[in-house]
Amino acid sequence: MLRNQDFMNAPALNKEIISTAIPAGVYAETVTAVQHYTDRLFRFRMTRPADFRFRSGEFAMIGLMVDGKPVYRAYSVASPAWDEELEFFSIKVPDGPLTSHLQAIEVGDTVLMRKKPTGTLVNDALLPGKRVYMFSTGTGIAPFASLIRDPETYEKFDEVILCHTCRDVAELQYGFDLIEEIRNHEFLSEIVGDKLKHYATVTRDPSYPHRGRITDNIRSGKLFADLGVPPLNPETDRGMICGSAAMLKETKQLMIDAGLEEGANSKPGQFVIERAFVD
Ligand code: A2P
Repeated sequence: MLRNQDFMNAPALNKEIISTAIPAGVYAETVTAVQHYTDRLFRFRMTRPADFRFRSGEFAMIGLMVDGKPVYRAYSVASPAWDEELEFFSIKVPDGPLTSHLQAIEVGDTVLMRKKPTGTLVNDALLPGKRVYMFSTGTGIAPFASLIRDPETYEKFDEVILCHTCRDVAELQYGFDLIEEIRNHEFLSEIVGDKLKHYATVTRDPSYPHRGRITDNIRSGKLFADLGVPPLNPETDRGMICGSAAMLKETKQLMIDAGLEEGANSKPGQFVIERAFVD
């Protein structure tokens, strides 16, 4: 049975445990929501430190204490820069050094985040244009989940085309939910209007009618025919690419073949790429 004295001692004890467990100079945030989509994918939200600033599309190092040591991986922030919380979309790798633990987090748990965000999938790294394509596979949709919820994207482009390819339809659900959220959002729905298009395909699921790797659909012209737009044109079109190393390499080559030049923060261009880092 607990006595009064035990209650009085508890806060001091907890404080001591926390101060030894959390490394100095990093944020320790509280999980506010967790949603599992499949046995490979989940999303979580956490509190946002008051002084944490980032540009929509950037990534941060997210971590947990594992056996007394911090383990970090790069995660694109999936929420937009204006959101008061931070959202992340993650894969679950059964023996992944971070994700095998991260997949078990629950509301109220603590997640670590290093202080400095960075990344090239940002509006600043692209020259102005008419149409921006966001090409993603799997969890590569995360930086675009941020950008499609940022009004700045719609100030810069007349058309925003979110392309997402996964193995099966259950893995596309996060993207469908995002679009639904935007359509029902008080102020975003008005800003976005009909500028946003969602092009979702699967590669291993005959139950879903829209199929094919994004690279194949660009090469064959199916993407443009389905959308009713002209083929890629460096004058009007911009690209942002996020996926596996193999997907990045192939999609980047397709951009170059179409005459688009790669950009960076220091020198904006016609397309930008970033690896979806995961394990
Ligand atoms: P596929 O099923 O043909 O391998 P994963 O879940 O393995 O990360 O893959 C996510 C999606 O990316 C899958 O639909 C997969 O297609 C596709 N993909 C894999 N490699 C490439 C590539 N080189 N270019 C384009 N898409 C790819």
